Amino acid sequence: MAAYIAFEGGEGSGKSTQAARVAERLDAVLTREPGATPLGGELRRLLLGSGDWTVGARAEALMMAADRAQHLDEIVVPALAAGRHVVSDRTAYSSLAYQGAGRGLGIDDVRVVNEWAIDGRWPDLVVYLRVDRAVARGRLDRALDRLEREGEQFHRVVGEAFDALAAAEPDRWVVIDGDRPVDEVAVDVWGAVAARLDLPVG
Ligand code: TMP
Repeated sequence: MAAYIAFEGGEGSGKSTQAARVAERLDAVLTREPGATPLGGELRRLLLGSGDWTVGARAEALMMAADRAQHLDEIVVPALAAGRHVVSDRTAYSSLAYQGAGRGLGIDDVRVVNEWAIDGRWPDLVVYLRVDRAVARGRLDRALDRLEREGEQFHRVVGEAFDALAAAEPDRWVVIDGDRPVDEVAVDVWGAVAARLDLPVG
């Protein structure tokens, strides 16, 4: 059966690189949140760009959820229905960590909004790349977006929320030490994905 695989973690965790590698190996549909659909591209610009507007915490949560609803409808659900694996760089779990914990909206409330937005379709497997914040910051050598510019306290809270989410659902989440070189991390990521999908590791 086609699997829906999420990559989660903070900025600079290397999850986009790892997601792309796994998608290629699985011949999966590679996608991301926010911004994978035409509507999502507009939302991403409004959410992460900087301009003459403000985005409050609740608006941010709802816009992330709107991006996600469209993403599920337009890309994720049709691909799974067609028998394709889907690898998504971030999912609703990012909203639980960033908006629920980071923005202080409450993980439970943000979960309810997202449960509705995705009609209950949570990923089958979550690969969480856990990195030391100093390592992650060193990797972000480009201009930072609106969320990346949040302070260290915000990112610490987000990281702790990811840790707690992983601990709460050990059957769904795999935690991988992302502080190591990309090829080493890739070996562990593939091992975890292959084990869950019952594929040969080699
Ligand atoms: P990216 O770094 O994976 O491109 O994600 C874009 C930013 O959006 C990143 O700072 C995390 C943030 N984000 C949220 O705050 N909530 C969400 O639900 C998602 C999907 C991303």
